[in-house]
Amino acid sequence: MAKTNKSQLIRAAAKAREGAVAPYSKFKVGAALLTKSGEIIGGANVESASYGLTCCAERVALFTALTSGKRNFVAMAVVARAPGGPIPCGACRQLLAEYAPDAKVFVADSRKLTAVKEFSVVELLPAAFVAVPGKSD
Ligand code: THU
Repeated sequence: MAKTNKSQLIRAAAKAREGAVAPYSKFKVGAALLTKSGEIIGGANVESASYGLTCCAERVALFTALTSGKRNFVAMAVVARAPGGPIPCGACRQLLAEYAPDAKVFVADSRKLTAVKEFSVVELLPAAFVAVPGKSD
């Protein structure tokens, strides 16, 4: 992927982060997904007073993209105020493994958007469980 695309996607995640609704943790996270056709879909974390209902930025972006018919994700960027950038949680890794298995995952600290770390989904979640609907004993 071209370097400009990578930094563009990081900037889109930083922009999406502005939409975070994080009154409890105050930890704002933004994510942006890039499709093969060049579309960018953003998302940010949304928290609940019932803490466990919180949804991470990565999943908000992924669900938004999927429910508007987008597929073929080539990359996701995630930005938060975290040293080295925020690393997706286990739940988000599972969803990425199912719906964006070939996506590169870029992470960056919101204070230093030019320092980008890159992971593959397989690196984040090796030997992922992927259900095969209709197959049972
Ligand atoms: N969070 C994300 O949105 N993405 C991550 O990769 C890690 C955690 C959110 C969930 C919660 O709103 C806040 O960050 C603190 O965990």
